[in-house]
Amino acid sequence: MRIVVTAGPTREPIDPVRFLSNRSSGKMGYAIAEAAIATGHDVMLISGPVCLRAPAGAHLESINTSDEMFAAVQRAIRACDVLVMCAAVSDYKPEIYSREKIKKKSDALQLNLVPTRDILASIASEPHSFLVVGFAAETGSVAENAQKKMRKKKCDLVVANDVSRADSGMESDENEVIVFFATGESETISRAPKKIIARELVKIISNVCEKRLTKKT
Ligand code: CTP
Repeated sequence: MRIVVTAGPTREPIDPVRFLSNRSSGKMGYAIAEAAIATGHDVMLISGPVCLRAPAGAHLESINTSDEMFAAVQRAIRACDVLVMCAAVSDYKPEIYSREKIKKKSDALQLNLVPTRDILASIASEPHSFLVVGFAAETGSVAENAQKKMRKKKCDLVVANDVSRADSGMESDENEVIVFFATGESETISRAPKKIIARELVKIISNVCEKRLTKKT
């Protein structure tokens, strides 16, 4: 299968020296890419700026902004079987980019932010034949919020995690996730290193794809 995985944060520039971003390390997305390659899949990894080496065999496209990530995902999905949107795409970007460095003043600085495009929602709302896997980073009511996100963004499955915990989720080497399926079922993957979680996720994704194929034939 050809799997497109997005990973890491995006950076939304404010001026030549500043940007708006988030704490995503990219570890989960890179681990998924690695696990998918290890099981024989062809992987396109679209990554925001992270301090990680791309797994051997991955086709890497590095991007900075959410607009660049959207363009890269659009190109990649022309020929893919699965889209895994693991990236922590910035929800907002500065309305105006200042070409000059914004100078420090003694009073408060107002920065106007406008929403970025929701890559997952816009791609999943267009006709497609590939499997759409979303992620849900939550700090409360994890199951409820993740299932709402899955429906709103028209995902086939959503991988939810509680990012308020220090021992799992963002930046950590470990994670604990619940996978919600559009069919109403769910599956918990207990706390484990992200590489182990990634292997389980790739197994789940492969199973769902196989079931879809057998339904079609
Ligand atoms: N996502 C996206 N484009 C955005 C924001 C998010 O494609 N502009 C994708 C993420 O890659 C993830 C899913 O949407 O697969 C959910 O992201 P998350 O940050 O959990 O939720 P948001 O939609 O940003 O909503 P909120 O921040 O309010 O929880």
